[in-house]
Amino acid sequence: MSPIEFLSAAEEAALAAGRILQDWAGRFTVSEKGPADLVTEADVAAQAAIHEILHTRFPDHGFLGEEGLNSHPDADYRWIIDPLDGTSNYVHRFPYYAVSIGLAHRGTLMAGVIHDPTRGEMFSAALGRGATLDGRPIRSSRFDQLNQAMVIASFPPGVRSDSEPIKRFLTILGHAQTIHRSGSAALNLAYIAAGRLDGFWSSSLKPWDIAAGALIVAEAGGRVTKMDGSPLDIAIPDLLSTNGTGIHEELSKLLSGNSAES
Ligand code: IPD
Ligand code: CA
Ligand code: CA
Repeated sequence: MSPIEFLSAAEEAALAAGRILQDWAGRFTVSEKGPADLVTEADVAAQAAIHEILHTRFPDHGFLGEEGLNSHPDADYRWIIDPLDGTSNYVHRFPYYAVSIGLAHRGTLMAGVIHDPTRGEMFSAALGRGATLDGRPIRSSRFDQLNQAMVIASFPPGVRSDSEPIKRFLTILGHAQTIHRSGSAALNLAYIAAGRLDGFWSSSLKPWDIAAGALIVAEAGGRVTKMDGSPLDIAIPDLLSTNGTGIHEELSKLLSGNSAES
């Protein structure tokens, strides 16, 4: 089976999940998994639809999904799914959330899709074949200095004001042109790939937040590493992603001056 066939199955599943999210909008009930860590019926229904489509197509594959999905962890192929990245935004009707589906083969990311159902956008990549937005090739931006850059910080739900992520945010505040907190790690990565954003970092993400996005950024010419610049491991919550210019080193130096999150 070619990566393109995996990609088209992932796109089909992401579109189905996106329709479910839009269908539930405005009538879901919200529960808290932890302080400020939200989940709705839409998260669960979207994950079930993705699993149904991909499991029917690929019965031998394993699955890891945020909403309690973990099957065949030893399978060669493993789908890594966040059915709704940006639940807090979704709940508040802030239109910045996405479906994220990645596929790893023996630990190597080989296909990924991120679908924004609000704008109807589909960001996709297959290993070695570049990244696309709605089928058209995309590339990360060319800004090469932090003082020209728009960057986004990501915080864990319920972040404390005296924590390392806030210290890092304040450090970068004095150096970047513009800094945001957006609420969807997956879309942040898709936006770096599409040249709409120049940098993003986090010390609290899970594999399903970044599996698809890490591949899409890399295939679009950007970079994904740990904050100290060493190779990314999606199982470890330590990510720095940029457009791949000198901004990466600038951010890495500033961010790794602070210790890992407590
Ligand atoms: C969250 C988003 C957010 C990040 C949080 C994640 P969820 O995912 O990616 O940007 O800061 O750490 O938990 O809960 O909306 O799927
Ligand atoms: Ca998420
Ligand atoms: Ca989620």
